[in-house]
Amino acid sequence: MNLPCLSPSLLSADFGNLQGAFDLCKKEGAQLIHVDVMDGHFVPPVSYGQPVISSIRKCSDIPFDVHLMIEHPESQIDSFIEAGADWITFHYEATNHSDLCIQKIHKAGKKVGISICPSTPVAVLEEVLPYVDLVLVMSVNPGWGGQKLIPYCVDKIKKLADIRKERNLNYLISVDGGVNKTTLPMVLDAGADVVVSGSSFFKGELDWKK
Ligand code: DX5
Ligand code: ZN
Repeated sequence: MNLPCLSPSLLSADFGNLQGAFDLCKKEGAQLIHVDVMDGHFVPPVSYGQPVISSIRKCSDIPFDVHLMIEHPESQIDSFIEAGADWITFHYEATNHSDLCIQKIHKAGKKVGISICPSTPVAVLEEVLPYVDLVLVMSVNPGWGGQKLIPYCVDKIKKLADIRKERNLNYLISVDGGVNKTTLPMVLDAGADVVVSGSSFFKGELDWKK
C-alpha cells in the first residue's frame, strides 16, 4: 500500500450505480474501500450487512475495509470475513472484548483496525496498539455522512503518530469523517496514513490528487 492511502466510503455512493462508484474509486487511485456497517444500536441508523457486502465484493478488486459500527462485533466477525472483508475495523466502545476481536480477525488471516469515537481518548488503546494493523480516528460522531470534522480529533491523529514513533510500532493511522478539500491538508499534516472520505469524494470535491 502506498501512503497516504485514499479510502472512499461507500455510504455516500449511489447504490443504484455501484459499478460507477467502484470505477471512480479505481480511477482516483483508491487502495481501500471503506464499507460502513451500522446496526441501529451502536449508532442509530441501519446501513447494510453481510448479504450486501458479499454481493458487491465481486464488483471490485480493491480490498474492503469493513467499518463495524455494531454492538458486540465479536459475534459477527466470522460472517463479515465470509462475506469478503479484507480488513475489519471495529469500535473499542462496542465491546468488552477488543483483544478477542483482534485475535479472531488475525486468526482468519485478515487485517485489524480498531476505532475510537471523538470523545474516547487515545489512551484507552495503550495495551492493544502493538497488536492492531490500523487505528481509525473518528473525526465526527459515527452514524452519518456529510458532517463537519471535529477539530480536536486532529490532535488525536498527532498523538497516535507520536506514540507510534516513541514505541516503535507499525499501525496505520486512519481518519474518518468530515474530510474534504479544506480539512484534507490538516489531517495529512497531523499524520493520517489512510484517509476515509464519503460525501466529498463522491461529489467529486476532495481533490485527492492535487
Ligand atoms: C460515519 C462513517 C463515515 C462516513 C464519512 O459514521 O463512518 O465513513 O461515510 O462520511 P463523510 O466523509 O461524508 O464525513
Ligand atoms: Zn466509516
